[in-house]
Amino acid sequence: MKQEVLVGLSERQKQLPCKYFYDAHGSQLFEKICSQPEYYLSRTELAILEEEAAAMIAWFHQGSLIELGSGASLKVRHLLAALPGRGRDITYVPVDLCEPALRRAALALTGLYPELALHGIIADYTEGWKFLEETASPRLITFLGSNIGNFRPDICKDFLTGLRSRMNPIDRLIVGFDLVKEKSVLEAAYNDSHGVTEAFNRNILTVINRELGGDFDPAAFEHDAFYNEAAQQIEMHLSASRPMTVSITGIPMRVSLATGETIFTENCRKFTRESVADLARQTAFKLVRWWSDSRQWFALAEFLPADNGGC
Ligand code: TRP
Repeated sequence: MKQEVLVGLSERQKQLPCKYFYDAHGSQLFEKICSQPEYYLSRTELAILEEEAAAMIAWFHQGSLIELGSGASLKVRHLLAALPGRGRDITYVPVDLCEPALRRAALALTGLYPELALHGIIADYTEGWKFLEETASPRLITFLGSNIGNFRPDICKDFLTGLRSRMNPIDRLIVGFDLVKEKSVLEAAYNDSHGVTEAFNRNILTVINRELGGDFDPAAFEHDAFYNEAAQQIEMHLSASRPMTVSITGIPMRVSLATGETIFTENCRKFTRESVADLARQTAFKLVRWWSDSRQWFALAEFLPADNGGC
């Protein structure tokens, strides 16, 4: 963490790694974001899942249902509900960094699905795929919530290529993508009127203060989230409202910011069906099925490993 923060805050466009948003408070704030009226993403994805779960899962009679970043394991319930035999021959494999959340989720699920085998894995899926060796094929892997959009494009490709190289031809992957749409709708989603996203953004400074002995004044930063149309992404920044020098004793380092200078905290890429198909092609997958809502605001895409040597 020290190294990442040191490097990030030393760059010309200062930045912080977005995974540090999610301490206990940050995770709570994120759940609150999901229930804001402007934040259509979770709601829309859930509606698609409810509607299409049976079609998505019809082929899947036995094997491992692997959820990357499973959190409270709420979304997967829609898939589980559509399984024949209440999941008798399926092992559900939630993968998450946060052990308490994973334990709570597992407990709740075994209450609902006593016949479901459950194998929780505490892992950071951005650090490699070794844990997949512990799971049996056929695998249905899900990566929901448009979390794929929070990777930089190069990291996103490495992530998918790495995952693809660990998959068998019979395994499938379902990914949630937020879609390109009107700028006003996108910007409202990341600037909710109750200021929850703003509080979430600032919380990363509180995390740095606590973990690394920083003296950031979060109140001296403004939340700035806007849609970059050329890059098709929402960019989230924290903008200094006055000149300041911050010291982080745990690294140690001092950082100076001018008024209006920003720290880049997250990007949330937006996709089209074409850009998703391209992404699949570039990472040795093929896009085989696509489920969206009537407004085409969000999509779930099914990726199959492409034949080796295919196009
Ligand atoms: N992946 C989701 C999105 O891009 C959730 C998310 C990640 C998010 N970081 C966020 C939402 C920061 C709001 C603010 O929207």
